[in-house]
Amino acid sequence: MRKRSFLLGGALALGGLGLWGRSSSIDLSDLAIRPKLTLPPLLDTMQSKSFALTAMAGSTAFVPGGATPTAGFNQAYLGPVVRLSQGDVRATVSNTLEMDVSTHWHGMLFPGETDGGPHQLVASGGKWQPDLNVDQPPCTGWFHTHVHGGTATGVYSGLAGGLIVSDGRDDDRGLPSTYGVDDLYLVLQDKQFSADGQMVYGTDMMSRMHGFAGDTIVVNGQVGSVAEVPKGIVRLRLLNGCNARIFRLAMSDGKPLNLIATDGGYLSQPMATDRLRLAPGERAEVLVDFGDGRHVALVSQKDLNRGPGAMVSQFHDIGASIIGGDFEVLAFAPSDDTGRIRSLEVGLDGSVPHLNDEHVAETRQFSLDMAEMGGGPMAINGRPFDHSRIDFETVLGSVERWTITASEMAHPFHVHGVSFQVESENGDAPRLENTGWKDTVLVDGEVTLLMKFTKPASQETPFMYHCHILEHEDAGMMGQFVVG
Ligand code: C2O
Ligand code: CU
Ligand code: CU
Repeated sequence: MRKRSFLLGGALALGGLGLWGRSSSIDLSDLAIRPKLTLPPLLDTMQSKSFALTAMAGSTAFVPGGATPTAGFNQAYLGPVVRLSQGDVRATVSNTLEMDVSTHWHGMLFPGETDGGPHQLVASGGKWQPDLNVDQPPCTGWFHTHVHGGTATGVYSGLAGGLIVSDGRDDDRGLPSTYGVDDLYLVLQDKQFSADGQMVYGTDMMSRMHGFAGDTIVVNGQVGSVAEVPKGIVRLRLLNGCNARIFRLAMSDGKPLNLIATDGGYLSQPMATDRLRLAPGERAEVLVDFGDGRHVALVSQKDLNRGPGAMVSQFHDIGASIIGGDFEVLAFAPSDDTGRIRSLEVGLDGSVPHLNDEHVAETRQFSLDMAEMGGGPMAINGRPFDHSRIDFETVLGSVERWTITASEMAHPFHVHGVSFQVESENGDAPRLENTGWKDTVLVDGEVTLLMKFTKPASQETPFMYHCHILEHEDAGMMGQFVVG
């Protein structure tokens, strides 16, 4: 019998005590009979310079027992991965659902008027055709619906997809880049299912306060699948597409994850780590060496950012090593084919952030507020989101320093229309995950960010900044600003 889900809570606490080693709950003996992982279809715009997305209703059988209603773009659940190159591309977004949707291009540096946020709704039966100008380095992004008050349920139902910005030069860098072969886009999510396979979404107190977390891991819309990979170097583009769960990823055999890119693009060189934190909305590209040909799994520790113990989030590293047993996120079965890339000697030409050389025109403070843990509104600096209120204005081309603070629990803070640098975290140099260009950063205490505004956003279509725990965003932990 294959394990399809893991249990949260008490049972897990035992696994991490070292009695059975750190991967005690990982069983890879049945990979031969598991379903094969599929990737989202690739919509390549390199030649066509256009792409079309249609939001539609569907039905998906995630687990045995029955199919459940879902939504997606161009398919029943989730959407394609759209590959973009620098320059102009025309998007057509159509909506066949009975509710409003939007397509926010998360991670793309587009002006406010094409950003796809809560001011650019595509009504039921409607269409939106923005002309997009891709003007940024290669990176992994994503798109998702962003209707205020409906983002959490919309994304949970499947209204999200992938983006890849490519400059066509990955061969020169020595990087794996064959989509679906040695370059895998992985949407990591969690869900809850009833006995008859229906997708369950909780609106209980716990889910509203900490964000909803399911007990079953879903990768690219599949449960318990196995990824077939060449026996060589494989690039994983990891997207945390969960509403609220924070992953702390590792390989079950302890082999390193070689981080090559964060949200906004390449690092200056690969950085090996045995544990990678990935919060909702964040992306990371890692190289993994499957050259030993052995079955292995990407695993994660339990999310400690929840429950009455959420206050320990400030001591994540200590807490995790004591409490966290690993659970499986995705299994890998290397084939006999040695693949195209066999060396980790790659030439990344990403630039390390250097905004501290520039004049800082403005400093701002943002505190992510949860009112009382009793159900007051979520807010930033005490003010819940107001669709008709512009919170501040910035100057196009200027550099600002933002200090973000979070108490009670950790929050992934996201800013539209800008790529930022993490200057410090709780007074220290940023952790590895935050050393490159970012648009989403987990605030577990206090972070200081430096950012330069290179794209305009008007009063009519301002940029958002918000917590990417989608329940918090929907409940008002969001603001909006103008760049002019
Ligand atoms: Cu990924 Cu404003 O969102
Ligand atoms: Cu965004
Ligand atoms: Cu939050």
